[in-house]
Amino acid sequence: MYKKAGMKDNSDESMFLIADAISDGVYVIDREGTVTAINKIYSELSGIKEENILGKNMEDVWKNHYVPADSDVFVVLENESMPSYAEMIVKSGNGYDVDNPYPVSILTLKKKTKISVITTLQDTDKIVLMTGIPVFDEGGEIKKVYTIIRDLTDLYDMKKKLSEAENEKKRFINELKYHRKNELKTDLIGKSRQVAEIRETVYSIADADATVLITGETGVGKEIVARELYKNSNRKNNAYVKINCSAIPETLLESELFGYEKGAFTGAQNKEKLGLFEIADNGTLLLDEIGELPMHLQSKLLRVIQEKELRRVGGEKTRKIDVRIIAATNQDLKQLIKTGKFREDLYYRLNVIPLVIPPLRERKEDISVLVDFFADRFNKKHSKSKFIDRYAVDSMMEYDWPGNVRELENIIERLMIIGTGNIIMQSDIERILGKSTDRKKVDDSCSSTLRAAVDKLEKEMIAKALSIHGNTYGAARELGINQSTVVRKAKALGIEEW
Ligand SMILES: Nc1ncnc2c1ncn2[C@@H]1O[C@H](COP(=O)(O)OP(=O)(O)OP(=O)(O)O)[C@@H](O)[C@H]1O
Ligand SMILES: [Mg+2]
Repeated sequence: MYKKAGMKDNSDESMFLIADAISDGVYVIDREGTVTAINKIYSELSGIKEENILGKNMEDVWKNHYVPADSDVFVVLENESMPSYAEMIVKSGNGYDVDNPYPVSILTLKKKTKISVITTLQDTDKIVLMTGIPVFDEGGEIKKVYTIIRDLTDLYDMKKKLSEAENEKKRFINELKYHRKNELKTDLIGKSRQVAEIRETVYSIADADATVLITGETGVGKEIVARELYKNSNRKNNAYVKINCSAIPETLLESELFGYEKGAFTGAQNKEKLGLFEIADNGTLLLDEIGELPMHLQSKLLRVIQEKELRRVGGEKTRKIDVRIIAATNQDLKQLIKTGKFREDLYYRLNVIPLVIPPLRERKEDISVLVDFFADRFNKKHSKSKFIDRYAVDSMMEYDWPGNVRELENIIERLMIIGTGNIIMQSDIERILGKSTDRKKVDDSCSSTLRAAVDKLEKEMIAKALSIHGNTYGAARELGINQSTVVRKAKALGIEEW
């Protein structure tokens, strides 16, 4: 600690030793406002050299170094935004004029009371809490003022980061709510006896935590049913997470599902990661295309279901988990068991409540309501006001719908987009689906060359697969060829829309 030459006050000696040992800045002024001592930290915090302050009047020092460019940084300590521990230090803080600021020490001298202020030090940009403490002589006259300066910069930065993180969190929560609401918008449409039965079963089992296995051909609405289960369950306010087991490479699937501990992998993945089971904790997890789950993960899944706890990849610790599992597949799991591709014990664990969704061709009464529903949806989406003619619906009733509701949905959307007329006629439908009489007919005419016949068959099959799946990936899977081949052939064969 530096002190003014010739200073005699012995009581200051021990204080000076202490002052250099603490992490707060300290300076002392006498009753005239002259700085008689400062510690090293004060010089560091303020950026003012000892020779520029010691022996000088604090008001002059203040004018050169303190008056902040931006008066907003001044916070008198009654202000709500101050850190709570500062609040505890400060008892008075009264009478501080933010528009006409004074050094705290001078103000303390004038007011004869302890005063604290939060401000920014101009030379170093440090945010500090400055507290002036008056010292009185025996006659009750003020003798000197100690000013203690605490660096709050890190605290403020942390506070700022925290409030940014809080805002970010709020944004994510709102986004999540928005997506959840959208996710849950579509209801299970249908007026057939089969759909009525499914609805009834769903409502009666929704609250049971038992595992449900939903089976049915592609596009029948397994996901819609899974969501219906979730929406009506007592877990509806918790997470709903779905994973398509066939869409994620086998090497990533395990950590996607079960997460990994810090250090389980090297490099960028050295952090820990929550798996979907943990994300879905207290909620519902839909394991879609469960038939595609590799054998070693089937064993792991079985353990999680039985023991209700999981171990992350690369971890020893087990974690309790409470997840309602819904599994879905369009594969025949019993057949997969026979060929050794699916564990029988897992099958029985999943199949606690089986829900079989019949194909659309077995519940044709649903077609008309689904047509209305999709027509309405796509009219709105594409700002159209198209109407589907009754004979057109009759034509759709005759069709077999191998791609089920998804195919119907895709076709309605396509009809809404193409063509200019406002009425969708039977002929429009037949152009897409073919006439019922010549459906499935392969051109075996002898006048055609083999190449032309192959092209025609290829075109029909690719167009059909595209129309069923609505995308090139699904079509490629169905046809057993690469997605890029589908794209190339569709272009070459002149299939423009589906
Ligand atoms: N009953 C229904 N009511 C309303 N929309 C339905 C219904 N059934 C199916 N859909 C719609 O059809 C499309 C296909 O349904 P979904 O994705 O549930 O089929 P899926 O059985 O899971 O098919 P995949 O086995 O190919 O995954 C979705 O867009 C869905 O919204
Ligand atoms: Mg699905």
